[in-house]
Amino acid sequence: MSIQETLQTALTGALAGRSLLTWLDYTPEEIRYVLDLSKQVKREKNAVHERFKGKTLALLFEKRSTRTRCAFETAFGEEGGHPVFLSTADIQLGAKESIEDTARVLGRMFSAIQFRGFKQSTVEALASYSGVPVYNGLTDAFHPTQVLADIFTLEENFGECKGKKLCFVGDGRNNVARSLLVISAQLGINFSIITPKTLSPDTELLKTCEPLSQRSGALITVGDDPAGVAGADALYTDVWVSMGEESKREERRALLKPYQINQTLMEMTGRKDAIFLHCLPAVKGEEVSADVIDGPQSRAWDQAENRKHTIKAILLATLT
Ligand code: CP
Ligand code: NVA
Repeated sequence: MSIQETLQTALTGALAGRSLLTWLDYTPEEIRYVLDLSKQVKREKNAVHERFKGKTLALLFEKRSTRTRCAFETAFGEEGGHPVFLSTADIQLGAKESIEDTARVLGRMFSAIQFRGFKQSTVEALASYSGVPVYNGLTDAFHPTQVLADIFTLEENFGECKGKKLCFVGDGRNNVARSLLVISAQLGINFSIITPKTLSPDTELLKTCEPLSQRSGALITVGDDPAGVAGADALYTDVWVSMGEESKREERRALLKPYQINQTLMEMTGRKDAIFLHCLPAVKGEEVSADVIDGPQSRAWDQAENRKHTIKAILLATLT
């Protein structure tokens, strides 16, 4: 089926005009649809299209970004769309002007908005008041566009993700771990968070995901023993200190030292074909050793490229 035909299916109608704030708001079928669309987008990555011609996208950034900004900007711009990068040094957002008023104004000028920043409530307010699709490009709570690329990458290596074992080792309460938890519960991925007890994901989110994993068959576990990586298809980690938490660096280094992904931990999977995933940016020598992230089991660079294809698929499904 061509992308055009895919985009004309019933599901597309259900996705048109939708925001992406967290994968909790989507059905498993809708997530599956965007994943499949991403595959088509990647297959046709060299084809020339103008599917965003006449459309505009505001890219709001309270925090720094390489991949997310570049993925949105190139995916949208190369197809005739007009992305506009706005950092908090440039606009009034939350300083001289409320989030709600900013949303109202941007909604009058742009076809859609991407937001990266601190509070989940900000991206929610932008979605409520702008009247256009809003994409969460990372908040303290969630990073949904990232984990779509992650599952896409898992499937590139192992086929259908349902029933695969994915282990996140590190800061188990951060935005990436939380988002992996949600998408795994939705899609039936056996997901383990291996983290010190004090960095376990909050019980409220675990509770929210329970009915989702019951429906999908996902086995979700949280533990503090690195031996839990046995049998994993993929080991995943992220920085020990997320943006905005810089004051916790020394405390985290001490707490998370036993949770570094290195060759020994990769071998503890018992799988020669296990892959290593990282959302990037990485601090080599902290959460991952250089030989693993730069070695043959690493798929971190594919993952980074896949941000662009998966983000383009989200934009195609919701904006065209
Ligand atoms: N993975 C990710 O979101 O990277 P950036 O912070 O560079 O956007
Ligand atoms: N948890 C990291 C992810 C960076 C993409 C952070 O929030 O800084």
